[in-house]
Amino acid sequence: MPKNDWNDAQTAQAWDVNGDSRNPIRAEQLDILVSVLADALQPDDWFVDLGFGSGKVEELIFSKIAGVRGIGIDMSEAMMKLAEDRLKPYRGRFETVARNLADLSTLQLDKPIRAAVAVQSLHHLSQEAMYAAYQWIYQTLEPGGVFLLSDRMQVASAAQWTLLRSLWKRQDRLYHSHVTPHEGDSFEHHQQTVIDRGDYPIPLIQQLTWLQSIGFDAFCLHVHAHRALIAAVKPAEGPKVATTE
Ligand SMILES: C[S@@+](CC[C@H](N)C(=O)[O-])C[C@H]1O[C@@H](n2cnc3c(N)ncnc32)[C@H](O)[C@@H]1O
Repeated sequence: MPKNDWNDAQTAQAWDVNGDSRNPIRAEQLDILVSVLADALQPDDWFVDLGFGSGKVEELIFSKIAGVRGIGIDMSEAMMKLAEDRLKPYRGRFETVARNLADLSTLQLDKPIRAAVAVQSLHHLSQEAMYAAYQWIYQTLEPGGVFLLSDRMQVASAAQWTLLRSLWKRQDRLYHSHVTPHEGDSFEHHQQTVIDRGDYPIPLIQQLTWLQSIGFDAFCLHVHAHRALIAAVKPAEGPKVATTE
């Protein structure tokens, strides 16, 4: 299986059209993500999307939440062009930054950011870059801001793969999706397939531990098989404690 080349127009188009068939849980997790954002954001608030791709997540957010505005970061011109076309009805509500997500440390956004989202994007980063992206999100968010991560988690053992395969087969029966062939026909094959695609997922427990270690209040909103939706809240500034001299 070739590594995903997001700069290739055909790869971008194919993902845009067929991506959901390998993740039938995506619609449910995106609906939860948008429901949470709808309560967390006010009109005119800004969110940032890491790896916004062809703009499907923004289309959903803008169509359901009045007045919110977004900044998207991605480095694939092919995906960003698809997003530009898709988001024409929402011109004025979305700004883009062409940038490698592995190189965020010097990026400063000139807007107060109330929420961050990353959907099926950060697992493309190395572990070091993923952790650094979480640190950047923490620094970028306003106090009380929320980060929502919907992504694939690592399948860490043959025992896990065996049980998950039952869920993937069930998903394919229920949703007419194509998850089972996408995830390999043995644990070893699965691991190789994931690496060959350029995916570097980490286990759910590791994600939560990392986010907590950075200072977030992190917990899982939804998980089905190897797909998790994690919420990480940056604590609001506590009340100032009066000091006596
Ligand atoms: C599977 S698509 C998901 C797109 C979008 N988040 C969605 O769910 O519809 C992954 C996106 O992450 C972007 N991406 C992957 N690695 C990246 C990196 N190192 N820097 C910037 N963008 C990256 C790709 O260009 C692609 O647009």
